[in-house]
Amino acid sequence: MCGIVGVTGTNKTVSILIDGLKRLEYRGYDSAGIYVNDQAGKDFLIKRAGRITNLEAALTPEVQGMAGIGHTRWATHGEPNQANAHPQYSADKRFYLVHNGVIENYKDLKEEYLSDVKFKSQTDTEVIVQLVDKFVTAYDMDTKAALLKVLRLISRDSSYAFALMDKEQPDTLYVAKNKSPLLVGIGKGYNMVGSDALSMLNETNEFMEIEDHELVIVQPDHVTIESFDNEEKHRDTFTVDMDPNAADKGAYPFYMLKEIDEQPAVMRRLVQEYLGANGKPQIDEKLLAQMQEADHLYIVGAGTSYHAGLVGARLFERFAQIPTSVHISSEFAYEQPLLSKKPFFIFLSQSGETADSREVLVHVNENKWPSLTITNVDKSTLSREATHTLLLYAGPEIAVASTKAYTAQVAVEAILAKALGEYLGLEAAQKFDVKDELAKVANGMQALVDSKDEIEAIASHALSKPRNAFYIGRGLDWSVSLEAALKLKEISYVQAEGFASGELKHGTIALIEKNTPVIGIITQSRTAGLTRSNLEETAARGANILTIASRHLAKEDDSIILPDVDEMISPLLSVVPAQLLAYYTSLGKGLDVDKPRNLAKSVTVQ
Ligand code: AGP
Repeated sequence: MCGIVGVTGTNKTVSILIDGLKRLEYRGYDSAGIYVNDQAGKDFLIKRAGRITNLEAALTPEVQGMAGIGHTRWATHGEPNQANAHPQYSADKRFYLVHNGVIENYKDLKEEYLSDVKFKSQTDTEVIVQLVDKFVTAYDMDTKAALLKVLRLISRDSSYAFALMDKEQPDTLYVAKNKSPLLVGIGKGYNMVGSDALSMLNETNEFMEIEDHELVIVQPDHVTIESFDNEEKHRDTFTVDMDPNAADKGAYPFYMLKEIDEQPAVMRRLVQEYLGANGKPQIDEKLLAQMQEADHLYIVGAGTSYHAGLVGARLFERFAQIPTSVHISSEFAYEQPLLSKKPFFIFLSQSGETADSREVLVHVNENKWPSLTITNVDKSTLSREATHTLLLYAGPEIAVASTKAYTAQVAVEAILAKALGEYLGLEAAQKFDVKDELAKVANGMQALVDSKDEIEAIASHALSKPRNAFYIGRGLDWSVSLEAALKLKEISYVQAEGFASGELKHGTIALIEKNTPVIGIITQSRTAGLTRSNLEETAARGANILTIASRHLAKEDDSIILPDVDEMISPLLSVVPAQLLAYYTSLGKGLDVDKPRNLAKSVTVQ
């Protein structure tokens, strides 16, 4: 949540900041701002409520500089207005700060040190910048010492990524992080910082990691990394192999549609990356060896990633025969279940930055339990800190509603379950031809995305008016129902729920009224008949029933027919019409599909 950029040493500062912020807008989009300094006596602070386009419109030609910082916000403290937008600045207008995260003890700090200061905003961030100023002016400290003192005063449970500028050292960015992501970008003659690599990829593909509790000083030709005890650290750079244009929308009206359409290609890429010519999974043996020693797999994730974990659990149990449970990271972090003797943790996260999941990983590492992160973002925090990483190779996912990351997560889980089962010599895994099945999935997805018009018609007919909707199914179809409902509610604001269809009669059926849409997902032979009966029960009470059914289980009146694949990986297909139904419902209502209200793509606060 919130995106940060900074640059020093170039007269392209303003355009680099704005381009970076546009690429970070997925992290928050309720207000934005920049501070730039021309190092010849002029500086500019421009902030606006709303999207980056509002900020851009406020820039006049004279707003230029050689260094600057920028921010796009997802409000945590104070409403999303201009005063609360970042950069926040000190009363004497000497210090400017952008911040991503939450300072848990900001009220205590304000009370203890800043009772004489008049505040302009309701943000925790302003407390930090005022405090730096206070230590510099009242205690006669230099900026570095003052910032270090502030960093030491911030409570350990706080999260932050900071970029600070001092008007009196206008070529220097003071940078630090704890829990929130931040990278240094190494340019030619100038240097940058950004919340992710993509925000700097137009300028460089060479980056440097920042670890928690370090103070990083970024200057045009130099980057210094120190511990809080002034111990200088050496850090190698790394490169990211990503096409900056991969994050462009092209001719698509919204990223979400582009990302839905990319799913067949993502499946083919995963086959290429993880399956050899003979279909044998190419998975690091050290990972398989550690997993086979486990007596229980714990999958941890949030939102869509949690839903992908629900499918994964069934795959690991079926093909590798290891008991597997799935946990919502924000729950696991604070109510840890009783664990088995030899746990192995699997973190699912598109961004690799979700704060709740990271909280669990920190605990896992403290206990020296082995772990794997399955993520779309190489070198992300969860990837760096887990024992192993498997990448999703889905390309940047920009729309807030996750689509291709979900299907990539499920596909990687299927490959890993097959690999582990084979490693353990299990027959079910040997018989599961994952390469062939994923090829069928890719073709099936293509057929589904090619029949968009039919799905759009269903959305406009059945989902545009109702306030509520239900997805129902059993087993894997229930898991997909949860994801399908999340897609619909987060972008179209229809109050949608996913239910185990057998549970309806135990309470929820009371909500069914005339024309309430109830969408049944039917891909499992064992439960198809039961789900159909449950649908009929809702129809008898006035529901408008729709069905998404696999071809081999289909009936004449089914609304959407899915091509056949192995039932264990049917979620890879049944989710696609649900993604499209959500997309077209949102589009039909004239909503901003990619940036739904109140949300941000990457949830880096707990
Ligand atoms: C889904 O559409 C959401 N955007 C959200 O639930 C997301 O999956 C969740 O915040 C977890 O994110 P992660 O995969 O990056 O960890």
